Amino acid sequence: MAEGEEGSSIQSSHNSQADDAFLNELPRARFWDGMDICQWEGGWFEPGLIKPAMTFKTTFEAHNDDVLLVSPPKTGTTWLKALCLCITQNPSTENATETDDILVKENPHFNIQTIESMIYSTKPHPDLYSAPSPRLFHTHLPYKVLPDSIKNNSDCKIVYITRNPKDTIISLWHFFNSIFRPNLEPFPLEKAVECFCNGVHQYGPFFDHVLEYWLESQKRPNKILFLRYEELKRDPKGEVKKLASFLGKPFVNEEEVEKVLWRCSLERLRNLDVNKNGSILYGVPNSSYFRRGVVGDWKNYLSPELQEQINRTARSKFEGSSLDLDA
Ligand code: A3P
Repeated sequence: MAEGEEGSSIQSSHNSQADDAFLNELPRARFWDGMDICQWEGGWFEPGLIKPAMTFKTTFEAHNDDVLLVSPPKTGTTWLKALCLCITQNPSTENATETDDILVKENPHFNIQTIESMIYSTKPHPDLYSAPSPRLFHTHLPYKVLPDSIKNNSDCKIVYITRNPKDTIISLWHFFNSIFRPNLEPFPLEKAVECFCNGVHQYGPFFDHVLEYWLESQKRPNKILFLRYEELKRDPKGEVKKLASFLGKPFVNEEEVEKVLWRCSLERLRNLDVNKNGSILYGVPNSSYFRRGVVGDWKNYLSPELQEQINRTARSKFEGSSLDLDA
């Protein structure tokens, strides 16, 4: 054992005991009979994410040209990652072949990793500083727990995407049913909506998450671009041009825009071998990130009572903010 190692291992065992004690004291709830979640900084998180989130918050040093993508789960993260990869990193020359395409080689979650579940969860001190510029990261964490170096002490940009809450909960419901209950009856939708509306779900409360980023994006539109899944569907060219300009990589012609949209389309990504097989995270199959991608799919599932419950929650949370995710 090298000099000092014994001391550092005692220190780290003290630290981990302190971490365990800290986590044990946090309020806990059971999420959908599938996993425990803890309340920290006003939000609900799987316990294993809290220490990585704290390390990120206290140690991450942003570069001016970093880009942080943020989303509540199931609001278009995979699509946004694919689009940003194409816009910032991939050769889009005429001669580029299918095999040059970064999206053909890996699932988008591999190339833009989620900070708290894929980076700091495996290494407390990851070597992020030798990564080529611009560095692209993703998080599902709320604005209030982002490091100051991202929010205030650098020119790092933030791209936020969100979605109609009714489609978000339906997408979540399908996703978690496929993960937690593959051979069981789906979790009762009424209970899922209840958890969603009272905020006791992974990365909840959804409505607070969206509102915080919305308000910040209104104050600092050059720092935070606020996107909506429905707008990307309604006007893909316009929204993707906006995204590219925000990232400082405006398109040179319409053909480029169309190519990026085609490369990132749900149909194409779903059918790539890399997404039909394998798994990036905790055994979650890559295929589970691609479902229907339809705006208004909630109409096929939510009773008028459940719709009203979600609408009422949205109205009360967003009141006075000019934000309307139903519009
Ligand atoms: P549905 O469950 O409504 O089909 P996330 O990437 O944040 O996990 O969100 C998943 C949702 O985005 C799923 O919605 C999925 O089908 C949809 N999605 C994934 N890739 C997409 C793409 N390239 N274009 C449009 N929607 C996509």
